[in-house]
Amino acid sequence: MKTLLIGDLAPGTQQYLEEKTDLMKVTNEKFLAGQYPDVQAVVLRTFTTLGREELARLPKLKYVVSCSVGVNNIDLEALREKNIELIHCPGTNANSVAEHTLHLMMALLRQDPQRPFAELKSKTVGIIGLGYIGKVVARKLLGFSCKVIAFDVLEIPQEVLDELHVEMKPFDTVVKEADILTVHVPLNKHTQHLINEKVFSAMKEGSFFVNTSRAEVIDEEGLMKHQEKFRGIALDVYSEGIKFTNTHVILTEHVAAQGEDSFKNQCKEPIQLFLEKVNAESSTASQSMSSF
Ligand SMILES: NC(=O)c1ccc[n+]([C@@H]2O[C@H](COP(=O)([O-])OP(=O)(O)OC[C@H]3O[C@@H](n4cnc5c(N)ncnc54)[C@H](O)[C@@H]3O)[C@@H](O)[C@H]2O)c1
Repeated sequence: MKTLLIGDLAPGTQQYLEEKTDLMKVTNEKFLAGQYPDVQAVVLRTFTTLGREELARLPKLKYVVSCSVGVNNIDLEALREKNIELIHCPGTNANSVAEHTLHLMMALLRQDPQRPFAELKSKTVGIIGLGYIGKVVARKLLGFSCKVIAFDVLEIPQEVLDELHVEMKPFDTVVKEADILTVHVPLNKHTQHLINEKVFSAMKEGSFFVNTSRAEVIDEEGLMKHQEKFRGIALDVYSEGIKFTNTHVILTEHVAAQGEDSFKNQCKEPIQLFLEKVNAESSTASQSMSSF
């Protein structure tokens, strides 16, 4: 199958595609300038936008293989309309993002490793979005004897909450009660600027704020306006040119999912699913040839 790989995958995972497909590789920048009349599958990560304009240059596309968990870079409605199948593996990078979140929390609490520091014990951690990542964050916090409260639009089974020692509360309560607020929702039209100026204004004076979801989930102007109230802010995702006067800010460059093992799974699992489909297609094709 003629397959287009856009950008780089985790080390060692590109070879699966090379062995089993007719593979062409382009950079993200080159992709935007090309036409791909024969390509039937694209393999991409969150850094490639695949909207109607890009899809128009891929007239034979049958599969989109996303080696990222967030799929806000892909126009899902356009895929449905064009009958293009999306293959991705939710949850494959949850451990990596959760470990990075914990790392950011600990780094915020210990601003200067040589000086007295705040402890997680007895703090209230608020989790917005208790999906794959939010749950792993809660699980990792179990050992720290802190109180964990959360809000999610979906109902989470009570046995899961009991196991994770999480108490679900209304959004406004989580925001007001959290000493550390961490955000793990997908970006969509409902969550764009979910954490807006009103939310930052309602948060505790001297609290900590962590975002490893998507930049657009946060109203960055609102964060700027209220930045001085925070004892620490850590962002893995943010807009270019963002500037802080608060000196206790940690910025990482969208690396939360790049823990070595998770990054590999996040690339390998959707590619394996895709290759199973390619195999099934070619065996169906050869069966119908032999019965001809
Ligand atoms: N920084 C990174 O490198 C990185 C890596 C992976 C994922 N992410 C981001 O993290 C997001 C979450 O990942 P996940 O695997 O946990 O996804 P998930 O779908 O398992 O969990 C998201 C949770 O958010 C909840 N939710 C949706 N809208 C909400 C709202 N308005 N208020 C509260 N909760 C809401 C959902 O019900 C779900 O439980 C991804 O969509 C992606 O954007 C970032």
